[in-house]
Amino acid sequence: MHYAVMGGGKRMRPLLVYATGSAFGAPLERLDACAVAVEIIHAYSLVHDDLPAMDDDDLRRGRPTCHIEFGEAMAILAGDALQALAFEVLANDSIAGIDARTRLEMLRVLGHACGSQGMAGGQALDLAAVGKILRVHDLERMHVHKTGALIRASVRLGALAAGCSDPSMLAALERYGHCIGLAFQIRDDILDVEGEVDRIGKTLGKDAAQSKPTYPAILGLHASSALLAELTEEAIGMLAPLGERGTDLRDLARFIAERES
Ligand code: IPE
Ligand code: IPE
Ligand code: MG
Ligand code: MG
Ligand code: MG
Repeated sequence: MHYAVMGGGKRMRPLLVYATGSAFGAPLERLDACAVAVEIIHAYSLVHDDLPAMDDDDLRRGRPTCHIEFGEAMAILAGDALQALAFEVLANDSIAGIDARTRLEMLRVLGHACGSQGMAGGQALDLAAVGKILRVHDLERMHVHKTGALIRASVRLGALAAGCSDPSMLAALERYGHCIGLAFQIRDDILDVEGEVDRIGKTLGKDAAQSKPTYPAILGLHASSALLAELTEEAIGMLAPLGERGTDLRDLARFIAERES
């Protein structure tokens, strides 16, 4: 579990929690439990994603994947235990400022984001689609679940922890999360084609080798990059009501589109 969580990574989802919460004035320590919980769920999802039964990868964050280092059984269990730990951390958090009702809603949001209507459901769509040519609509649905769900939840948890309750602001944040979540996986798919292994720390070219349905495979690299740029602009547009307070969220949207790792 330690190996999977503490081995680096961009910490994108915690950054989204902190950027959203602090845009609405939450002190950073009130956001820690949400930030830790989403990163732990993410780390678990990577451990299971790399297993032989799934993507069968042996390199992650520049090191052997968890199952290469510790064996498959331990990797499965580490993932299981990380998932449980994320909920324990969120439920146990003793930082004042979040009432029990809000905490319960946070647990529900996280559960929804990693279950059958979220990440795990998206991973099932991904694996069921291997070797098939998906329509763009189905490809979007897969990405919005497998990667988008946890990214949207990170934004939502940051807003919940900060006590943001303005319905139009919450709807704008939801759309922001939708756009950057999809953009994140499109960039991931593009990097699998044209990234540099030393920067990414994963084996490249695996999606094509495993006949994975990806944006570059279905739309081509050029149209995928154009869509990525469109989604980024739409995401940034959603932050207009935040003015200066949206700077970190704006920077994160740009980072997602331009990242090389
Ligand atoms: C990789 O996620 C898996 C996807 C959901 C695309 P990241 O690119 O956030 O991985 P780390 O945490 O930085 O290693
Ligand atoms: C993984 O997508 C999404 C997850 C929920 C873990 P990928 O399979 O494309 O992620 P990488 O490329 O292995 O990091
Ligand atoms: Mg995968
Ligand atoms: Mg993978
Ligand atoms: Mg990938």
